[in-house]
Amino acid sequence: MSGGAQVRALQPGYLIVGNWKMNKGPAEAPALADAIVGAVGSPRCAVAICPSFVSLPAVMARLEGSPVALGAQTCATAQSGAFTGEVSPTMLSEVGVRYVILGHSERRQHSGETDASVAARIRAALDAGLRPILCVGESEAQRECGETEALLSSQLKGALGGLSGDQMAKVAVAYEPIWAIGTGKTATEAQAEATCAFIRGQLSELFDDDIAAGTPILYGGSMNAQNAAGLLSCPNINGGLVGGASLKPDDFAAIVAAADRLEAENHVG
Ligand code: PGA
Repeated sequence: MSGGAQVRALQPGYLIVGNWKMNKGPAEAPALADAIVGAVGSPRCAVAICPSFVSLPAVMARLEGSPVALGAQTCATAQSGAFTGEVSPTMLSEVGVRYVILGHSERRQHSGETDASVAARIRAALDAGLRPILCVGESEAQRECGETEALLSSQLKGALGGLSGDQMAKVAVAYEPIWAIGTGKTATEAQAEATCAFIRGQLSELFDDDIAAGTPILYGGSMNAQNAAGLLSCPNINGGLVGGASLKPDDFAAIVAAADRLEAENHVG
């Protein structure tokens, strides 16, 4: 990968985010939240879990006073109004949400999210005081055709272009190769590191070196208890966006523990 390896990550501390996707309604979600809080203990790194909208209040009730923050899986482009079926960032904030995943490839594929609508969601989320986690990533065909860099570049520019430095300081980026999501086919450490370094380079072009260095870049795509330590030890990877393994408290806690060990060993800071 070209471009960007010259910008060193500031490594602001790891962020591990569980994306529950369309799993665990309000009947089951509180028990999973309790199990995760119990399993992760008192982590050094930042941890968040992102249940479905309807489970947010029930999960928030269990996270109160714990080190685990609440996140959502998308949000609307506006704070209120005639948007039937949508949930606004202000509403999310009211129930205790701090992070919001935006532009996940499943939302792009099944729910019509585009770079332009993701850009609007990011701005609305920032206006409501939420921390957006922008997802970018290529399909297997795009990687094979050598289109990864062009695609990532346009996704980053389309979603983040025009944000101020202060706004960007609240944003994390998750590199999620589509071919690695839910497939058990993780990107190699070398692929993930090279691509995250490329993303950091793009952020430096869109903003500046300091902003690029300070932006948490997460890896997502079949991260699990076994591969987390290797991926997280890559210099340009500052955390993980975890799907399947976030539904298994012990596995999720093992990923958090791997981040904590690295943070303690001073790979961070
Ligand atoms: P996975 O999902 O860990 O199950 O691959 C990651 C994601 O989609 O965020």
